[in-house]
Amino acid sequence: MCGIVGYLGEKDAKKHVMEGLRRLEYRGYDSAGIAYYDEAKADHLVFKEKGRLENLAGLLPEGGSQAAIGHTRWATHGRVTKENAHPHESHDGRFIVVHNGIIENHKALAEEYLAGIPRKSATDTEIIASLLGHLAKGKDVAGAFRQVLDLLEGSYALLLMDREHPDILYAAKKKSPLLIGQNGRDTIIASDLTALCAAATDYLALEDGSIVTIDERGFSVRDGQGKAVRPVLSPVDKAYAETDKGVFDHYMLKEIHEQPAVLRRITAEYFDQETPRIRKDISAMLQKAKRLHILAAGTSMHAGIVGKALFENLARLPTEVHIASEFAHHPPLLEAGSVFLLISQSGETADLRASLEIVKEKGFPSLTLTNVKTSTLAREADKYLEIFAGPEIAVASTKAYTAQIAVLAILAFALGDGGFSLRKELALAAQGIENHLQDHKMYSGIVAGHLKKPHAFYIGRGLDYAVALEAALKLKEISYIHTEGFAAGELKHGTIALIEEGIPVIALVTEKRTAAHTRSAIAEVESRGADVLVIATENVAEKEDGIRLDTVHPLLTPLVCVVPTQLIAYYAALQRGTDIDKPRNLAKSVTVE
Ligand code: F6R
Repeated sequence: MCGIVGYLGEKDAKKHVMEGLRRLEYRGYDSAGIAYYDEAKADHLVFKEKGRLENLAGLLPEGGSQAAIGHTRWATHGRVTKENAHPHESHDGRFIVVHNGIIENHKALAEEYLAGIPRKSATDTEIIASLLGHLAKGKDVAGAFRQVLDLLEGSYALLLMDREHPDILYAAKKKSPLLIGQNGRDTIIASDLTALCAAATDYLALEDGSIVTIDERGFSVRDGQGKAVRPVLSPVDKAYAETDKGVFDHYMLKEIHEQPAVLRRITAEYFDQETPRIRKDISAMLQKAKRLHILAAGTSMHAGIVGKALFENLARLPTEVHIASEFAHHPPLLEAGSVFLLISQSGETADLRASLEIVKEKGFPSLTLTNVKTSTLAREADKYLEIFAGPEIAVASTKAYTAQIAVLAILAFALGDGGFSLRKELALAAQGIENHLQDHKMYSGIVAGHLKKPHAFYIGRGLDYAVALEAALKLKEISYIHTEGFAAGELKHGTIALIEEGIPVIALVTEKRTAAHTRSAIAEVESRGADVLVIATENVAEKEDGIRLDTVHPLLTPLVCVVPTQLIAYYAALQRGTDIDKPRNLAKSVTVE
């Protein structure tokens, strides 16, 4: 999704902004641009280009600058063209703007204020720049900026340059994340912590309504009412600066391998010996719940399905899982005592934010489970909990999924009667993953042997079905093999018609209670020519099963069972030569509905 970075300080602004944009690449984008003040030419220069950041970097001349703003765009309003890439300039050329978010009333504003003014792009952002050009005449810029912001409906994180004042940058935020970082007299501002963590020592996540002025002395913040805000900065967690792939060829493979360490970190963060350490206000909120509603999208929604089983089995708390984009527009009947749990790795997903608006409107309590504590959903929900997965750079989520499940298990366990050592069971799961990862290279052969068709199926029952859904999503999103995740017993009700000679069917078998039933489904597809690969835990495995996993607690099987499916997706994508860490059409955080 779009990313923005700005810099004003004593060092090379252009270099810092390009480095920040490089760190935002993982979010997905289709064009990029930068504007900076060129000292030698005493002028602002603007460059933009379609495609990868290298294309833009190739256009940039030598030469220093102390102020720059940059943007990576993921097209929403207008096609992927150089003209639609940011920065955008006002019709009079004075103002230069980069913008994340969506201005919902841009057409109305253009009609009311900018009639007859020619446009260079099809974007909503250009309207912001031109409104400024229109309204700033004869006024101070800060005042005109506030006036323009008051007119905008929708969401924005904005950075603004004024050709008449090259030593000042302006920024504003509403419903799109924006963080401001400092390092001595240098100020860096970005939509994501990963973009500013290398350059900044301390940072502040801006509140909605904030307007920021940045100059050579540092920055000052005013709130929505124009009152000065005393910023309280937090130190930058340097884990976010480490965006190195280490010994791995791709972030995805690195992040798959980080899962045991993430589970151990979560255990350390959330346990005092055998007792889960959950904030009292959060436990109290969940203890009062008559029904828990989980809201999430994609992989996080699949973690939510596992969460339902955990809450119902460990805490006896009736739980529903909703696809956020459905809930947002078709909320079900909700009874008193409902509590909402939003699961979002990024904490920025627009479908969840739309759902949260409804939840808040109806007065239900809400809790966000996220990997990004500075995210919008962490701030907009009543409470939040962190999953401590560390930065996840690959677009395809892996370690965040297992981290979400681990924290959901701890939450559910904390609400229930206990009766076993979850801490120990999580340690065993971490060990089980670690054991399995030692042989990860064997998946190259497994994939070459089994995934020869453009279609595939994952099947399973209970928690194995939940993992089958996630496994199918992972395989399709990075290898582009069309894959369906199916409840093993449901195949015979129609979909089995698609099974023909050589179709890969990967069966997940970890649940003792239903293993025999899943084996019947396997026999059914095998007798119709399917190429079956069984992934099973030792306690239910049979001699001819292709992949065997350590036995873990029956409610934690998704933690180990998902790992082979992540590796299958990874190696299938590798063999197809796709862009594994940045699959086509996808973005890391989906900030549009
Ligand atoms: C797939 C994937 C997505 C996200 C989904 C929700 O690998 O990562 O399906 O899970 O877009 O994103 P978050 O969790 O950030 O709300």
